[in-house]
Amino acid sequence: MGPYCTDWLGEYGCMALAVARPQTTQQVSAVLAACHRTGVPVVPQGGNTGLVGGGVPVAAGAEVLLSLDRMTGVRSFDEDAGVLTVEAGAVLQRVDEMLRSDHGRCMPVDLGAKGSCTVGGIIATAAGGVHAVRWGSLHSSLVGVEAVLADGTVVDGLSSARKRNVGYHWPHLILGSEGTLGVVTAAALRVPPAPEARVVAMLGFADWDGLRRTVRRALGSRGLAETVSAAEYLDAASVDVAVTWGGQRDPLDERYPYTLLLEAAGASQAYCSERMEEVAQGALAAGEAITGAVSASTAQARQMWGLREGVTEALSKRGRAVKLDVSLPLERMAGPQGAVAAARGRLRDQLDPAWLSPGPRGASTLEEGCVAGGWGCDGTDVGGVLACGYGHVGDGNLHLNVSVPSACAADGRPVGAEGDTLRRPPASSSAAAPPPSLAEAAAAARDASVPFVPEWVAKEAGMRGSVSAEHGVGMSKLGYAGLSRGSGEEALMRRLKAALDPTNTLLPGRVLAARGR
Ligand code: FAD
Ligand code: MLT
Ligand code: ZN
Repeated sequence: MGPYCTDWLGEYGCMALAVARPQTTQQVSAVLAACHRTGVPVVPQGGNTGLVGGGVPVAAGAEVLLSLDRMTGVRSFDEDAGVLTVEAGAVLQRVDEMLRSDHGRCMPVDLGAKGSCTVGGIIATAAGGVHAVRWGSLHSSLVGVEAVLADGTVVDGLSSARKRNVGYHWPHLILGSEGTLGVVTAAALRVPPAPEARVVAMLGFADWDGLRRTVRRALGSRGLAETVSAAEYLDAASVDVAVTWGGQRDPLDERYPYTLLLEAAGASQAYCSERMEEVAQGALAAGEAITGAVSASTAQARQMWGLREGVTEALSKRGRAVKLDVSLPLERMAGPQGAVAAARGRLRDQLDPAWLSPGPRGASTLEEGCVAGGWGCDGTDVGGVLACGYGHVGDGNLHLNVSVPSACAADGRPVGAEGDTLRRPPASSSAAAPPPSLAEAAAAARDASVPFVPEWVAKEAGMRGSVSAEHGVGMSKLGYAGLSRGSGEEALMRRLKAALDPTNTLLPGRVLAARGR
């Protein structure tokens, strides 16, 4: 049962009572009905790539893990409607590859975990990913769902009709419910024609305002906006981690405070290249960007994406990470007034200075400096706790991570092994003191950042932001998700949960905190 019972980050999980691996909707229904009858909680799981601890057991030996990994079939493809009906356990990348080769279409969602995450998982979490800026959130693409309710009732809403106003749009209630309202067994999704051409531009910026202006132009100008399929950013610390720990190549070769990745996708390579050249030249001419590169080959485009998508895995190789995933208006995301700078300030105030990354040579000339957000201009990770920011800038979605490096991470052993200590930067004032254990340093980093960052987001942005953007609530954001719920929203959610799952069979204690907490 092991692999099913620990989450991707290694932060949550314990042994299940049993792992059920049904192959049909009827079998899913039978498992749920039996658990409902006997009062056994159920944890649905797809690819187990979730980042909020929602898809693994948390009560030792007491919960049944319901894996959808054997339900991978394609049920139908409606060529005229452009609607694919596929089972929940199908892996995103495989479905995407099949669509491209057999139908010239593609999945409207793309994310770093595509090789493992499933259709049911992305629907349960309403995953965003890198193409939401083009095709919208999954709400724009979901046409129908087949789901099994907590008591085993099968509800079939698998129409491929793109318009179906016959009452409540309940599939959109299941979407993003993180498995707490029903188990998705199959879904009907509108799948767009796959763009044949793809060109990626990478631009380096000295200041956040310059990047914001370029993003606004790229997403707002005629001709260009219709081709943009991704607008992502990384700060220098994130680039450094991806290079040093993820083995990625930095196509810009030097570190800039902010790197913007833009992708244009469409029918013609020449048209996409022209549009990307226009953005790059425009940003340079306006003095917004310092440097830029436009991909001239698929290999170059892949390298640029490797840097961006490699950050998550590189962070997990470096050590432990406190993962925050927030929505913010762009002016409060990064830069001097942004969340990343606020988090760095907080780490400086709260942690032993000897634990912090001291930053590279010459850093003081660059915005935000490096203290408590260290990155090596020379490409070397100097160790120590750092805060880094990256994410889907086109959607106002920041991934703010506080990374705590493990002394043993470098030798290839799994991070977080018992006895691991914090890998500290060399030559600090209290270098004589023994390094703290990794667990101790990670706990201190967590205490410094949570609830500080969510409270900062709620206070500075209110309902223009969100303490959870795309990863969901699961277990890890239970304590503060309420900060971004509007008046009456939580009460409504509880009424819906009580109506669909009155015995609290599905994922008790996730998404909505138990009453009285
Ligand atoms: P799991 O991890 O198995 O489950 C996630 C949640 O959904 C759990 O609560 C589970 O109970 C529930 N669930 C799963 N399947 C079902 C089902 N069939 N019915 C009901 N409930 C179900 N997320 C983004 O939004 N954008 C990103 O760009 C992104 N990038 C990522 C990159 C990496 C490297 C990793 C590791 C994760 C990333 N994620 C991202 C997190 C994201 O939530 C997941 O990758 C994905 O959506 C989860 O799919 P899964 O099949 O692995 O679900
Ligand atoms: C991403 O955009 O890379 C993912 O959401 C994963 C992460 O936050 O690290
Ligand atoms: Zn993301």
